[in-house]
Amino acid sequence: MLLPNHVFILYTLLRALSVIVANIKVETQDFASLRSNQTQDFASLHQNQTMLSLYLHIPFCQHRCSYCDFNTYTSLGDLQEVYARALADEVAAVAGNERRPVQTIFFGGGTPSLMSAASLDHILQAVHTHFDVAAAAEISMECNPGTISAAYFAQLRQLGINRLSFGVQSVVASELQLLGRTHTHDTVVTAVRLAQQAGFDDFNLDLIYGVPGQTLPSWETSVRTLLDLAPTHLSLYCLTVEPGTPMQSYIRTGKITPPDPDLAADQYELACQLMAEAGYDHYEISNWCKPGRECQHNLTYWRNGDYLGLGAGAHGHADGIRYHVVKQPRTYIKRIATPAATTFPLSPAVKAQYSLDQADQISDTVITQLRLLNEGLDMTAFEQRFGRTPQAHFGDTLTQLLDWEMVAIHDHQLRLTEKGVFLSNQVFHRLI
Ligand SMILES: C[S@@+](CC[C@H](N)C(=O)[O-])C[C@H]1O[C@@H](n2cnc3c(N)ncnc32)[C@H](O)[C@@H]1O
Ligand code: SF4
Repeated sequence: MLLPNHVFILYTLLRALSVIVANIKVETQDFASLRSNQTQDFASLHQNQTMLSLYLHIPFCQHRCSYCDFNTYTSLGDLQEVYARALADEVAAVAGNERRPVQTIFFGGGTPSLMSAASLDHILQAVHTHFDVAAAAEISMECNPGTISAAYFAQLRQLGINRLSFGVQSVVASELQLLGRTHTHDTVVTAVRLAQQAGFDDFNLDLIYGVPGQTLPSWETSVRTLLDLAPTHLSLYCLTVEPGTPMQSYIRTGKITPPDPDLAADQYELACQLMAEAGYDHYEISNWCKPGRECQHNLTYWRNGDYLGLGAGAHGHADGIRYHVVKQPRTYIKRIATPAATTFPLSPAVKAQYSLDQADQISDTVITQLRLLNEGLDMTAFEQRFGRTPQAHFGDTLTQLLDWEMVAIHDHQLRLTEKGVFLSNQVFHRLI
């Protein structure tokens, strides 16, 4: 058993490993005038537990990045139109006869910005026909910086897309090259300027730290350079070396040195400091935003709310069921075209579903809500839902975490402390 005086030794040793938990990638949505009312709108929408979020997966890329194991394909570009029709059909199949309310829509990938505006329009029309999309809904789309134009952004605005997320990863040419990215930093600057000119005032930039060869100064350059672009939101992910990727083989064959977890921890710490100085709110372990600009779609995941996952390989969670859709786009298209009787939230393309027992629900609730650094775990809601308090459920484990100041309780919210953020995977392991 751990004694309290061991915690600080553990803190130093595990701090490096723990940043990995900062890296849970979420599958990864003229609005300006609505924005001041929007926070309030979303707050009241959140009260309504029947509100849904929709994740729509677009599994196409022009090029496979060396670190990426997402469900995406570089040789299936000719399927895009037929895929968009299948996705629209899946939307209709899942909805059935009920027009359920939707608060966020997120086109993730892959590279959604490879989809023609006509295909995106077809999908969104199906969503509006079969779901009751809130007037202030957040509609996000992931974009690769090199895949867009001013005309394309203008079309996205007309479709009602009001938030963009750009995969930047680094501003340093040698790092971009190792990551297998095909854009340069100039491409990013152009993409951001064009997006702003088209009226997108809400956009996220993704960066990756813990990259082999990346130094603390080069990471600082990436963070500072992106801050100069004044994004409303930044997601900073620690590199995960995924099995079967070129990145893993570069490391295995000694072509590059493995990532240094201690350096990654220093990079995370530095980023926390730079973001705070620039006025960004660190609202989730890997995510920062300007006040009021949280990603509402991802908040649904972290609040353990209901979301539908549509498209090849997508994951969903609604009405106490977790499920995932078949991964291969051709199989997906065939499955959607084959009539099958399904009930909400499932579609004919669902490959597997799991009903969550209470232990699963408690684990999900804890590890998702604790990621939210301002909100944390709602202890009152926990007790109402599971029939006992977190203290009664977690007993000595929670008492120890409180004693070790890895978590703290404020106004019936259980939250990670600053120390707990660095050791969050340790906290999660103990609680689940
Ligand atoms: C699935 S990608 C979609 C965005 C878009 N396709 C792009 O890459 O520009 C979403 C984000 O996940 C992050 N990501 C993907 N694989 C990762 C890995 N192995 N380790 C850390 N972050 C990763 C990247 O920051 C990426 O921007
Ligand atoms: S562009 Fe994005 S989704 Fe496509 S391979 Fe690269 S990281 Fe993965």
